[in-house]
Amino acid sequence: MTDPNLKVLIPSEKIQARIRELGAQISADYPTGSLYFICILKGACFFLTDLARAMQRDVSVDFMGISTYGKGKSSSGEVRVTKDLDISLEGADVVIVEDIVDSGVTLNYLMHLLEQRRPKSIRIAALLDKPERRLRPVHASYVGFQIADRFVVGFGLDYAEKYRNLDDVCVLDE
Ligand code: IMP
Ligand code: MG
Repeated sequence: MTDPNLKVLIPSEKIQARIRELGAQISADYPTGSLYFICILKGACFFLTDLARAMQRDVSVDFMGISTYGKGKSSSGEVRVTKDLDISLEGADVVIVEDIVDSGVTLNYLMHLLEQRRPKSIRIAALLDKPERRLRPVHASYVGFQIADRFVVGFGLDYAEKYRNLDDVCVLDE
């Protein structure tokens, strides 16, 4: 895709190599027991499918729909569950798979919500982390890349539902 507003920040080869490392690390951290990846729609589904295939053990997947952002670049601050899980998390090791931790509002809310479902453990895997932007405390155990405070698109991340299908993570400048 050639778009003058896009500049590649993280090329796809680097993303794929990092996901393979994360898959190996998560596999080693959970050698036994039932492991669930909870994918936060829609952005994280691109990361989820590659991460699940980088795993060296069986992993179950389920999806949760959360809406925080409107059509622009800033959060409305309001978190809404638009699609809940199909499965019970009781007694399972859970890894929430998210595209990016920005203000932390979404994941802070979600951690509290899912903890009430009595999983054995719960951790976060995020492809990207913008630590400068944090408003609520969130600790991601597995992070692909820490990035500066820039608005990025691609590899699942969108601007007004566009650009999700880019292979690379790009900075969007208009
Ligand atoms: P938080 O609740 O502010 O941490 O925001 C999390 C959600 O905001 C992510 O799941 C993304 O959907 C969206 N988001 C945050 N930063 C960006 C960005 O740079 N590009 C695209 N979406 C973003
Ligand atoms: Mg999202």
